[in-house]
Amino acid sequence: MKKQTCRINYITSANAQQLEEAADLLDEGKGEITPLPIDRVRFRRSRKHFLAIDESSHKVVGVAVLKDDQDDAVEIGYLRVEPAYRGQGIGTELMRIQIMEARRLKLKLIYANVKHDNQNSIAILKNMGFQHWASYTSGKGRGTLYWLCFYLIFVPDVNVKAIMSKKNTNLTLIDSIPKL
Ligand SMILES: CC(C)(COP(=O)(O)OP(=O)(O)OC[C@H]1O[C@@H](n2cnc3c(N)ncnc32)[C@H](O)[C@@H]1OP(=O)(O)O)[C@@H](O)C(=O)NCCC(=O)NCCS
Repeated sequence: MKKQTCRINYITSANAQQLEEAADLLDEGKGEITPLPIDRVRFRRSRKHFLAIDESSHKVVGVAVLKDDQDDAVEIGYLRVEPAYRGQGIGTELMRIQIMEARRLKLKLIYANVKHDNQNSIAILKNMGFQHWASYTSGKGRGTLYWLCFYLIFVPDVNVKAIMSKKNTNLTLIDSIPKL
């Protein structure tokens, strides 16, 4: 773990005000997560929220979720750390706690869709043992986005292909990310 300059509390059951703060944190990063404001109803409905709170200011400085899916293969997402707090291992710790929770819930698999050029996020996923599954695209024309999907399995002999063929149905599968 890298040196942290602030003392951070990690919580897995947030109150309504903390969830609103976390949603604000996501919206402040316009373009980092999505170009549009997040869907707060969907965000609140997430199966599990993970928040990083600055112990001295009580401010929400990091967020991640297991998305709203009662299946045993669940997407993780809404990962964002406040810029001033980056590079201290908070993103990695949020991911570690998510993985622990996924194991506790006896999930078979978790997966994440990351914009193809999001090096920090890809670094965290690879460090945690996620493997590349596929490439996708969404949107059209100048709004086209390219996504890499990574997955992590928790039990042997999981049929990843069968599981993932039912996921990401809102995205278009592509062979590879084009040279942009
Ligand atoms: C991705 C994100 C959550 C990482 O949070 P973080 O707290 O900075 O993460 P960590 O400190 O654990 O660092 C993770 C990796 O990011 C990279 N990184 C972080 N800070 C960095 C810095 N200042 N300079 C260079 N690389 C850095 C490193 O590759 C690091 O991996 P390493 O541990 O192997 O060196 C954060 O950059 C962020 O909020 N980005 C914008 C939102 C986003 O992209 N979310 C993901 C959507 S899928």
